[in-house]
Amino acid sequence: MESDRIILFGLLALSLSVALATDQSSLQDFCVADQNSRVLVNGLACKDPKLAEANDFFFSGLHLAGNTSNAVGSRVTPVTVSQMPGLNTLGISMVRIDYAPWGINPPHTHPRASEILTVLDGSLEVGFVTSSPENHHITKVLQKGDVFVFPIGLIHYQKNAGSTNASAIAALTSQNPGVVTIANAVFGSVPDIASDVLVKAFQVDNNVVTYLQSNF
Ligand SMILES: *[C@@H]1O[C@H](CO)[C@@H](O)[C@H](O)[C@H]1NC(C)=O
Ligand SMILES: *[C@@H]1O[C@H](CO)[C@@H](O)[C@H](O)[C@H]1NC(C)=O
Repeated sequence: MESDRIILFGLLALSLSVALATDQSSLQDFCVADQNSRVLVNGLACKDPKLAEANDFFFSGLHLAGNTSNAVGSRVTPVTVSQMPGLNTLGISMVRIDYAPWGINPPHTHPRASEILTVLDGSLEVGFVTSSPENHHITKVLQKGDVFVFPIGLIHYQKNAGSTNASAIAALTSQNPGVVTIANAVFGSVPDIASDVLVKAFQVDNNVVTYLQSNF
């Protein structure tokens, strides 16, 4: 029947989109990254599983606050496959984020991951912007213990909404989420994006573009 076929195609489309939303699923128990391998694969080559040891699946240090003495007043401490070789092929990673009073984690996206964040200390104003409907800003103030999710690919940010330090832990759906910080990518790329492109894109005059480029 026609309606059955529509449901079938709908389910197929749904399962495909779910499968593509995060890293590919593994075909083995684990694949501890062999950081020295010269084999180029999607991810990192595996070391011999018989040589896997506890430290491959271990990281220590997320109890320590990151140094927030910088222009934005925040610090991300990552635990991705670069810090923990056992994450290779598992489609998951974690970060700790520290915020000075009124510090921000500036607008950025993760090309390969959704992010679920929980506030450990303090209060955060968070938000992301949707693509459909276009440019809808979804924002909320979070308190200690609150959890918020930033969908894959969307521009998002956090701001410490208080006069004390704040911290958060977040999990991401990729061993290597990647980060594109909007201001740095647009005004700080090497080589520069031509200023006439930025003048038209941001509808500002050339002095403003030159000024912004000098800051990144
Ligand atoms: C934090 O970073 C600032 C700026 O880079 C540096 O001057 C300072 O020594 C760092 N503090 C610690 C405790 O590492
Ligand atoms: C806030 O964090 C900074 C940097 O880690 C630290 O020096 C300072 O003592 C913290 N303040 C409080 C009230 O914990």
